[in-house]
Amino acid sequence: MRRNSACLHDMQRVALQSGADHAGFRQAARALIAQGISPDRVVWDADEATSLFGRCEVPDGPPFALSRRAISLTKLVVCHRAAEKYALLYTLIWRLLHGERHLLDVYSDPLVHNLEMKRKGIRRDLHKMHAFVRFRRLELDTGAERFVAWFEPDHYILEEAADFFVDRFRALTWSILTPIGSLHWDRSRLSLGPAARREDAPSHDAFEGGWRAYYESTFNPARLNTGMMRAHMPKRYWRNMPETSAISSLVQSAASRVTVMCEQEAAMPRKRNPAKALAGMKAEPETLSALNAIIAQSEPLVPGATRAVLGEGPLGAAIAFVGEQPGDVEDQEGRPFVGPAGQLLERAMHEAGIERKSCFLTNAVKHFKFEQRGKRRIHQKPTAGEVKHYRWWLDRELALVRPRLIVALGSTAVLALKGASVPILRSRGPADFNGRPGFITVHPSYLLRLPSESERTHAFKNFVTDLHAARDLTLRC
Ligand code: URA
Repeated sequence: MRRNSACLHDMQRVALQSGADHAGFRQAARALIAQGISPDRVVWDADEATSLFGRCEVPDGPPFALSRRAISLTKLVVCHRAAEKYALLYTLIWRLLHGERHLLDVYSDPLVHNLEMKRKGIRRDLHKMHAFVRFRRLELDTGAERFVAWFEPDHYILEEAADFFVDRFRALTWSILTPIGSLHWDRSRLSLGPAARREDAPSHDAFEGGWRAYYESTFNPARLNTGMMRAHMPKRYWRNMPETSAISSLVQSAASRVTVMCEQEAAMPRKRNPAKALAGMKAEPETLSALNAIIAQSEPLVPGATRAVLGEGPLGAAIAFVGEQPGDVEDQEGRPFVGPAGQLLERAMHEAGIERKSCFLTNAVKHFKFEQRGKRRIHQKPTAGEVKHYRWWLDRELALVRPRLIVALGSTAVLALKGASVPILRSRGPADFNGRPGFITVHPSYLLRLPSESERTHAFKNFVTDLHAARDLTLRC
């Protein structure tokens, strides 16, 4: 008899590993389908205690074709905590392959309904994990830093959630510890580790006050709805989120603050800038990676962007290039200046004898703002208010990188660096950015937009000349 599959009274027993055993389930389902074993003849055992059985050892079967929708449903539902998930999924697959190809369209079917509820539960859990993980900075004995978070998911979603965190925090070294396993990223490799305990993760770091200040500055007492607040941010997550310590006093003072706000409306017509609130607090991030961790977790001012695109390059770079905002490609790849404008910039840098990897490249605005037209995402210029909103990040970033020279690419960068608009073509050349040595030139996307080849060639030559001059300046700064 096989080690982990037994035919007891014609029943097939399949033992899978506890958690979300995608590979084990796929293999078992193929084997069972190949042998024509119907769902009512299978006992699925996904219990930790019996996981010693290992994988199902019925001979592997040929792959079968499922719709994308069924595959993605299976991929998510396998993450569910309920032990019945494998039996339900195998029943679904069996029925899809035995004459009910459109079963997933039948929402009234109890199986479809059950799986759909489970899928939604997983999606909700993923959403909570994306939104409520809070990293704390740990300084290791080697002097290196690691950002560590504690989170308690409802389901086995670690692997499913991993891409999101890798994308957002690619430039940091981090770990997410949970009671069902852990995820570790070392800036190039993701690994899964064993379950952890809450005490294994730091409960606070130097930036606790910063989170609180940020939350307070974005809290609008006039829109207080405690029911909604609890629905969106259930209390059980609060323990890991430093900003929630501000909630009770904010709720208590909301009514009186609204009265004061109404009275003072004429005197304070503008919205508070959350970045400013951070600027005023004592615990400012002391390292670029600590700052990046906060930028990466901040919400886009205009919704839609995939992620905050962080600056890239070495501390103490000779030149920091500041652009406007990430474009479509940058938003997808999570790196600045990798799309068409970035490639043109890199070519010009090369011709001017500047090595990209020796420079720091960043943007005035950290999120992509766009208008969706069909499948295309059309770039939208950030408003002066949006540039102002992000100014604090840029200022801190440059203070930590400490470049010898800052090159502003185009008008948005100048607005962010000087706090005032200037005509770019008339102002190009050396500049002072509030006490920091700077240089103004055009944005590479300006060159891409010029209508004729001869204009583009001419403008590119001037752009290279500017970069040459900037490079010469760094030798004197
Ligand atoms: N344009 C910018 O200003 N920044 C980028 O990162 C890409 C295009």
